[in-house]
Amino acid sequence: MRGKIEDIRKQVDIDLGAVTTTSALATIKVKFLGRKGPIQELMKGLKDVVPEERPVVGKLINDLKAYVDEQCARLEERFIVREEEEQLQREAIDVTLPGRRRFLGNKHLLNHVLDHIIDIFEGMGFSVQYGPHIESEYYNFDALRMGKDHPARDMQDTFYIDDTTVLRTHTTNIQARVMEGHKPPIRIIAPGRAFRNENISARSHVFFHQVDGFYIDKGVTFSDLLGTMKEFLCKLLDDDVPTRFRCSYFPFVEPGVEVDVRCFICNGKGCPVCKKTGWVEVSGAGMVHPEVLQNGGIDPEEYTGYAWGMGLERLVMIKHGIKDIRLFTQNDLRFLRQFNGI
Ligand code: DAH
Repeated sequence: MRGKIEDIRKQVDIDLGAVTTTSALATIKVKFLGRKGPIQELMKGLKDVVPEERPVVGKLINDLKAYVDEQCARLEERFIVREEEEQLQREAIDVTLPGRRRFLGNKHLLNHVLDHIIDIFEGMGFSVQYGPHIESEYYNFDALRMGKDHPARDMQDTFYIDDTTVLRTHTTNIQARVMEGHKPPIRIIAPGRAFRNENISARSHVFFHQVDGFYIDKGVTFSDLLGTMKEFLCKLLDDDVPTRFRCSYFPFVEPGVEVDVRCFICNGKGCPVCKKTGWVEVSGAGMVHPEVLQNGGIDPEEYTGYAWGMGLERLVMIKHGIKDIRLFTQNDLRFLRQFNGI
């Protein structure tokens, strides 16, 4: 019996010497201390030991059991500490590493300048209205005195959706819509996209943006229009930007003008961008035609108004010295990023 006890202890030492993980340790514990393990066997065999030896042998078995418990507990503690350390190492964070940069999106340059334009007009008492891209011929043309056979329809190469529906060729489509729903005084701007079937080049595109606007009230005059345009351009571009008004024709105004500013590329000397004139056109404008007021349900005997329609791309090109309208829609990040945070 004593020999057996000694053999088991040796075997315990050998097994525990080879163990390296908590789970392997748990298996060994069961192997020696479990119900079918050798120590239980020894316990069962105790009854065959001669009575006078029994207390001594019993103590030896208990000592062996305590030894296994003790050794397992000692190793377990060591393994747990080591496994925790390993886990910490695996999950370690290097706080000295530089952070990952987040790339933030930005407002498109056109929207950026549009916000500025809206700010300026809101400061003058205008509010913003939007209209549909897909528009009836009535609001895009007829209400603006451009009936079916009007030659002015040829000025705008129109995309037709069906016989009576178009992609709006200008944001002037908003005029009769707003007049129908409001009583003067009306002071609104209408920014948005317009579409024309033109060849794409550095100067023109099939879609572009306009900011239309109008003011209708009692006693609105042509000089109010000129003053508003001039004030707006000074605020947007530069306090002393040279401006010029030329007589022009649009069916929906009388009289009509075109508004020019000094060429931003050649500063008036003449270059391909201004077609050697030294001036670039930024807006059409005029006094709202009495028939247009009538179409919108407003009495032209009582009220007058001015209106304009400016090209957003043109204004942005002037403000930022951009020579090609196509850059706005090519989504080249090298172009777009130049205007981050302006
Ligand atoms: N709709 C015109 C165009 O696209 C611009 C324009 C001119 C708008 C005179 C107006 C205006 O409201 O009064 O060429």
